[in-house]
Amino acid sequence: MEIIVTKDYRELSRTVCEILEKQVIGKPDSVLGLATGGTPLGTYEEMVKGYEHRGVDYSCVTAFNLDEYVGLGRNHSQSYHSYMNDHLFHFLNIPKERVHIPNGMAEDLEQECATYEDKLNEIGPPDLQILGIGANGHIGFNEPGTSFASTTHVVDLAPTTRKANARFFTSLDKVPEQAITMGIRTIMKSRHIVLLASGSHKLKAVKTLIDSEPNEQFPASILKNHPHVTLVTDKSAKPYE
Ligand code: F6R
Repeated sequence: MEIIVTKDYRELSRTVCEILEKQVIGKPDSVLGLATGGTPLGTYEEMVKGYEHRGVDYSCVTAFNLDEYVGLGRNHSQSYHSYMNDHLFHFLNIPKERVHIPNGMAEDLEQECATYEDKLNEIGPPDLQILGIGANGHIGFNEPGTSFASTTHVVDLAPTTRKANARFFTSLDKVPEQAITMGIRTIMKSRHIVLLASGSHKLKAVKTLIDSEPNEQFPASILKNHPHVTLVTDKSAKPYE
C-alpha cells in the first residue's frame, strides 16, 4: 500500500484531485468509483475548480457511487443522489446517463442490488475508486463482519455509523437504518483504490488498518490484499512518525 501523508486537509484534497484528474486526462473514458461523506468534499471542490479553470473534461467519464440510503428518494436533501449533484455532478460535464447511484427507493431492493452489480461488471470495474473509512473500519457501508465475498447488497447500518452520520440530519432517528452498498468483492475489483482519511478521529482506524492482517471484523483491512491502493492521509490521521 502506497501511503501519502499531507500536511493538512486542503493538501489532501488537492492531492486526491490530482490523482483523479491524472486518471481522467490519461484515459478520458475512465470509470470512476465515488464516495460520499465529509472527507471527499474538499476533493470534489478541487475537481470543480479543475473543470472550470483548467478545462479538465469529464464528458466521456462514467461514475458509479458506492452506496445510497434505503428509503430516501433521490430528491431528499440527505440522499447520496442529492449529495453528489450538489457537490459534484451539477458542476461537471459527466453525461447524466453515465452517472450510476443505487436506487434506495427500489420496490425490490434485492433486484436493485443485482442490477447494480451487473452494471458494474458490464461497464466497470472502476479504473479508480475513491473510499473513505469509518471509525469502525467500514468501507462503503460494509460494516464489521461483512463477508469479504460480498457483492452489492442491502446492509443494516451499525449504530455507530448512524450516530456518525446524524450530523447531516436533523436528529438521529431521521438517519435511515439501511443502505445499499457495493460489496467488498465489488470494491476489490477496482483497478486503483484511493483511500482518504482525515482528522484525529480517524487515527485509530488508520492505525488498525496499517497494523492488522485482513480480517472481516475490520473491513478496510482487505485492502492489504489489493495490488494498487493509495492511502492519502493528513498528518492528524497519521499514526506513526
Ligand atoms: C460514503 C461511504 C462511507 C464513508 C465513511 C467515512 O459513500 O461509503 O464509507 O466514506 O463513512 O465518512 P466520512 O468521510 O464522513 O468520515
